[in-house]
Amino acid sequence: MMKQFLYITAALLGPALGPLQAQKKQPAKLPVSKQLAVPVATVVARAEAQYAAYLRRYPDSTQHPRSTENDGRLVRTTSRNWTSGFFAGNLWYLARLSGQPQWPRRAAAFTETLDAEKNVTTTHDLGFILNNSYGQGYAVTKNPKYRAVLLQAAATLAKRFNPKVGAIRSWDHHAEVWSYPVIVDNLLNLELLFAASRLSGDTAYAHIAKTHAATDLKYRFRPDFSTYHVLNFDPATGKLLTAVTHQGFADNSCWARGQAWAIYGYTMVYRETKDPKFLAAAQHAADYFLAQTAKIPDRIPYWDFNAPDIPKAPRDASAAAAAASGLLELSKYAPPKNNYYAAATAILASLSAPQYLAAAGTNNFFLLKHSTGNKPANSEIDVPLVYADYYFLEALWRYQNYAQLTLN
Ligand code: GLY
Repeated sequence: MMKQFLYITAALLGPALGPLQAQKKQPAKLPVSKQLAVPVATVVARAEAQYAAYLRRYPDSTQHPRSTENDGRLVRTTSRNWTSGFFAGNLWYLARLSGQPQWPRRAAAFTETLDAEKNVTTTHDLGFILNNSYGQGYAVTKNPKYRAVLLQAAATLAKRFNPKVGAIRSWDHHAEVWSYPVIVDNLLNLELLFAASRLSGDTAYAHIAKTHAATDLKYRFRPDFSTYHVLNFDPATGKLLTAVTHQGFADNSCWARGQAWAIYGYTMVYRETKDPKFLAAAQHAADYFLAQTAKIPDRIPYWDFNAPDIPKAPRDASAAAAAASGLLELSKYAPPKNNYYAAATAILASLSAPQYLAAAGTNNFFLLKHSTGNKPANSEIDVPLVYADYYFLEALWRYQNYAQLTLN
């Protein structure tokens, strides 16, 4: 009955607004049941089967699975790629979710081949690469060598901070177009800096992270609380020059994964700072995301909320998974009776169904189908992405441990 209601409501609402049309702020109430159950055990068993099969076929831990080529071939990367830390993280989450003794050993193998990245100053993605691997490994093992890697990585990342801008520089490439780009994704790399301050007692890292988040917050949102992808600053004066997109449909459209990064990132910054302005930011980002996905029967976003070909546009399960993980945490901090927990469980229930969850032995041994990496570059469209699996497993872990969930 409820399902029928959801489908009828969605049909009446019709497709999302076309590109560049004004987006009216909508109430974020979702007609979803709080009782919606997520089949954690089924997904964990599938993850064990998929990753065991992957490791039998591809045991080399210097190669990290990322995605699938257009012709169906598996894409693996070296440690230098921004996605290299996710597979190790997936194995750490699988270790925690399954309790099976073989997974920490497999996770450690894929973690420890990332060691050299701790000194690399040419990327802002050291959080994605090393916090999601060594950080998750440290949470499980308390291995002091992992702690040392995290501290070195934070010291390296901090070198990319420009006090005039008040932010860490994202990309070095396209310097002719962007003089000092700061992308929404970068919020997630701040978690490494907060962790380093906690581990070392040196508050300088947390100070940089908080300053970056405050700068980001000044310019990230449009009046309707959709997000820009790229903020471009003048590094000499700190002035914002342009707010544009790189992976979204248009400069004034809303790239779904960017909005998910904002939910997750601002929630994490609130966890670490307890500054209410970051909680408000996370709620605004979430409310926009949920108003948009309320129009979609299964709640899994199109790659951009303003994609011109909705409802035929490709989905992005990675945006759904990152949002679900962030929403579960946000539901703990937002005022009682918020709808973030219900929204997260609705997303997770969809991702756990056969439309998105791969059958054993398929999908190049990734868990989730139907993610989109970079549509404007015609790259990774409607494919598995390793980071979709990462945030999915993390969300399942948060869901399973919800009653006692504390994240620092
Ligand atoms: N951080 C890159 C992406 O979200 O595609």
